[in-house]
Amino acid sequence: MTLTIEPSGQACGARVGGIDLAGPLDPETIGAIRAAWLEHHVLAFPAQRAMDDDALERFTLAMGGFGRDPFFAPIAGRKNIAAILREADETSPLFAENWHSDWSFQAHPPAGTCLLAVDIPPRGGDTLFANQHAAWDAFPEPRKAEVADLIAVHSAKLAYAPDGTYGAKDAGRSMAIRPSEEARATQTHPLIAAHSETGRRGFYSTLGYIVGIEGMVDADAFPLLQELAAWQARDEFVYRQGWEPDMLVLWDNRSVLHRATGGYEGHRRELHRTTIAAFAG
Ligand code: SIN
Repeated sequence: MTLTIEPSGQACGARVGGIDLAGPLDPETIGAIRAAWLEHHVLAFPAQRAMDDDALERFTLAMGGFGRDPFFAPIAGRKNIAAILREADETSPLFAENWHSDWSFQAHPPAGTCLLAVDIPPRGGDTLFANQHAAWDAFPEPRKAEVADLIAVHSAKLAYAPDGTYGAKDAGRSMAIRPSEEARATQTHPLIAAHSETGRRGFYSTLGYIVGIEGMVDADAFPLLQELAAWQARDEFVYRQGWEPDMLVLWDNRSVLHRATGGYEGHRRELHRTTIAAFAG
């Protein structure tokens, strides 16, 4: 099987052809996908017409196994697939509209995420990605020392605690979100982290799941995190992924931030999502 890899020409992202992800996935093919993933950070596989939930699970297992997905109920009959869903008449705020790296508040956050198109609106609903290696490389040299060794405090509380964005006040949402007190737990990670496979350094996660900096009072930490968040998502680091029916997109949570966008009012949008476990070496 020969993969064709067409880089987006933007800050990250490539379109991959020449492969049926629902077919046999031999180690050589998975190795080639993995190499492309590490290089481009976001891979879009169009025209995966045979891809269903079984094949999505097989592919996720081949890429490193399932991550643990808190705060979502899985779709019926599956333990590891969640639906990213918005009904045509839904009026609740968009899900995942803020920049984030999936589940960065975990002790061992997922290396990657797969999203499989199920129901794609005729316009809008693009997913944006921001390359955090590029953001770090371009960060002004004199400022690097100021942040290079900081330890960020992560938590899911602002989103998934009962009083968070997706908590009790979040009425009318079709997605099966399950807020919980568990969301208040905290976990630390380096603010500038080395990628677990390439060793390349970059900003890891951002304000939202990052709720503070170890050893720094909030009055100092928040303005800094806000300033960094604006830097991390500058236009020159961003890639826009448009969706097509039957497309699967795979991204690397260790090197990109992502966020959802709207623009499909009056249309249904559904994608099936799995997370790929932390890299075990
Ligand atoms: C997500 O953050 O998992 C969802 C992204 C999207 O809906 O585009």
